[in-house]
Amino acid sequence: MTLAPAPSLSRVFARASTNRLTPHDRDRFAGPSLFDALGRAVCEAGCLPRKELFEAWEMARRVRRRFRGGRVVDLAGGHGLLAQVLLLLDDSSPSAFVVDAAVPPSAAVLQAALVAGWPRLRDRVRFVTGDLDAVPLLAGDLVVSCHACGELTDRVLALAARARTSVAVLPCCHDARAAAESPVRGWVDAALAIDVARAHWLAAQRYQVRTQSVPPDITPKCRLLLGAPLDSASADVPEVASCAAG
Ligand SMILES: C[S@@+](CC[C@H](N)C(=O)[O-])C[C@H]1O[C@@H](n2cnc3c(N)ncnc32)[C@H](O)[C@@H]1O
Repeated sequence: MTLAPAPSLSRVFARASTNRLTPHDRDRFAGPSLFDALGRAVCEAGCLPRKELFEAWEMARRVRRRFRGGRVVDLAGGHGLLAQVLLLLDDSSPSAFVVDAAVPPSAAVLQAALVAGWPRLRDRVRFVTGDLDAVPLLAGDLVVSCHACGELTDRVLALAARARTSVAVLPCCHDARAAAESPVRGWVDAALAIDVARAHWLAAQRYQVRTQSVPPDITPKCRLLLGAPLDSASADVPEVASCAAG
């Protein structure tokens, strides 16, 4: 009997890993696609946890299927990869702001690697150290936030709703106490109850709401909530729409 060889450990490349991507990983991104080119640039920078590349990419492509153009405002944006991928996927967005209370020093290293690969990004992305409201939002902006912890996600949604911007969030770090009063808590876990409440809250602010997921092998915090402000002249109360496709 011939046994198939066991997969070599060196071939296993978990997308959820928090190990930094380094130049040693370049060959894992050898293809001609935009994603592989991005992977190579991130490897050259040598500072980004692997999962952040996959999270940013998977979130950005789903966001861009729904929202074109607009100034990008990436709140609690960390290294700002999400904002920069959004510009790469849609050059009609003029610029991006990345707002974070503590912008990582290595964000500049990553940005330089991206500008080296895509010179058109030069001078279009600004990092702002500060609270979520440090950049006044404008209607027409695209507000995004990947893994803004706990109630930070609610603040992102509230800021976007007040300014009537499009918004996309991938929530994380749910505080179960926030679901204590949820009427569906007996059926679903606290994190899901909180995210469902967020979707309904956004719909009640007169948003067209879509719910999707990024692949859960990248992160268990994979629920993506997207909202587009509805024309204020519309009289209908919006529904929450789900989208089976990831
Ligand atoms: C889990 S990290 C997510 C970073 C990035 N969006 C990502 O997906 O990798 C949460 C970020 O929120 C930032 N943060 C925490 N409180 C904040 C606040 N009040 N205003 C702005 N950023 C904040 C932290 O500095 C951190 O970078």
